[in-house]
Amino acid sequence: MRCYLHALLLCMVFAVFSVLYVFNQLPVASSFESQYEDGWTDRRTKQSSGRQPRFGAQDTGHIVRKGGVPSLFDHQEDDRTREKPASGSVQEATRDERIHLAVVACGPRLEETLAMLKSALLFGAKPLHFHIFAEDHLHGSFGQSLDLWPSVFQTRFNYTTYPITFPSENAKEWKKLFKPCASQRLFLPLILKDVDSLLYVDTDILFLQPVEEIWSLLSLFNSTHLAAMAPEHEEPRIAWYNRFARHPYYGKTGVNSGVMLMNMTRIREKYFKNDMTSVPLKWVELLMPLLQKYKLNITWGDQDLLNIIFHHNPESLYVFPCQWNYRPDHCIYGSNCLEAEQEGVFILHGNRGVYHDDKQPAFRAVYEAIQKYTFGDNLVQFLLLPLEANLQETKHTYCGRASHMFTKRLKQSIGVLQQETIEGR
Ligand SMILES: *[C@@H]1O[C@H](CO)[C@@H](O)[C@H](O)[C@H]1NC(C)=O
Ligand SMILES: *[C@@H]1O[C@H](CO)[C@@H](O)[C@H](O)[C@H]1NC(C)=O
Ligand SMILES: *[C@@H]1O[C@H](CO)[C@@H](O)[C@H](O)[C@H]1NC(C)=O
Ligand SMILES: *[C@@H]1O[C@H](CO)[C@@H](O)[C@H](O)[C@H]1NC(C)=O
Repeated sequence: MRCYLHALLLCMVFAVFSVLYVFNQLPVASSFESQYEDGWTDRRTKQSSGRQPRFGAQDTGHIVRKGGVPSLFDHQEDDRTREKPASGSVQEATRDERIHLAVVACGPRLEETLAMLKSALLFGAKPLHFHIFAEDHLHGSFGQSLDLWPSVFQTRFNYTTYPITFPSENAKEWKKLFKPCASQRLFLPLILKDVDSLLYVDTDILFLQPVEEIWSLLSLFNSTHLAAMAPEHEEPRIAWYNRFARHPYYGKTGVNSGVMLMNMTRIREKYFKNDMTSVPLKWVELLMPLLQKYKLNITWGDQDLLNIIFHHNPESLYVFPCQWNYRPDHCIYGSNCLEAEQEGVFILHGNRGVYHDDKQPAFRAVYEAIQKYTFGDNLVQFLLLPLEANLQETKHTYCGRASHMFTKRLKQSIGVLQQETIEGR
């Protein structure tokens, strides 16, 4: 009997302790939960507005201008309208005479981009709108530089700076797959919804003739063309895609996306054939599955995706010849761009950093000539002659030996401007 009593006592003591334990734990648990929740909401708000303090520390002026718009990615729409200059865009959309030029400047690309924009203004006459996609900390510098350009040139252009971003719909999903900087160009038809057509160029592009010349190729599009690019290579034996690519590409050697004309109205409307479904897909539906399928096989990012798209839709691409996108590949082992030999280089593309190292001094000489030129100075005396002198020093390289092609069209462009000045235009 005593045995039972002991056992009962023990059980009761145990039960009491258990109850005490449970009661003790309850507040702990609930406070733990609320702590966790607080932590979570905290993290969340930090994430969606987190850029504020982070950028604020570096660039307070920008934040003020941003009007407290918290996230780079989710409020893109607001960013756009806010930074758009107060131009009557609705009216302009109906009859837009401007050339729309877009560039994506990531990393240390400010100076290079400014040289490109300068070359776009120098030789042409038509009004321009620059769409500059850049990392936030560069926006101020772009504004400061562009606003200082002389008023004669100011009257010919407007500009909008945009954050590097995705279209606001599905921004989070895009973000998971696409690197914003590398893929920005693919999203331009979806971001610049009110723009009909666009000339997209890399930052390392220099125009050696009026921009309106390439813009006018848009009017040569047949009814199925919706974009235009140059071949990636002229010489299949040294080309990249046909030797190394692990994905489909356009034509014999692929296309280079450094200079790309787009009729974005058509891009937005078109249903693209593809190798993912038997159903043609719209641009906005195409990008995500395409990257998902090929992400492990692509080397040159968005250019590879464009090659895959136009492989399946070749009737949509207008291919312009190599002098519209002239790269070191065209002269590095000897000249292989026939059209440039005949008519000169129209647009120079100093890819792989050749404007900034000593590998292709002829390319660097052109860049430096345009970069150092001051608006308003005599173009022959302060641009053409010094450039020709510097190119003479590059004759030890293949591209240097081909450099008469670099100045052939430039000379004509400058000649036309000088003639117009004499005639008092
Ligand atoms: C720039 O915007 C202003 C203000 O809306 C407008 O009057 C002007 O025509 C525009 N210039 C160009 C070159 O588009
Ligand atoms: C990716 O490359 C591998 C190796 O060349 C190839 O077997 C595979 O089919 C490629 N993937 C796609 C989606 O083309
Ligand atoms: C682009 O295509 C649309 C639809 O076909 C057309 O209305 C528009 O004029 C084209 N834009 C240019 C600049 O040719
Ligand atoms: C437009 O030109 C391309 C070649 O650039 C061709 O493949 C396509 O069939 C043409 N479209 C029409 C409607 O003629």
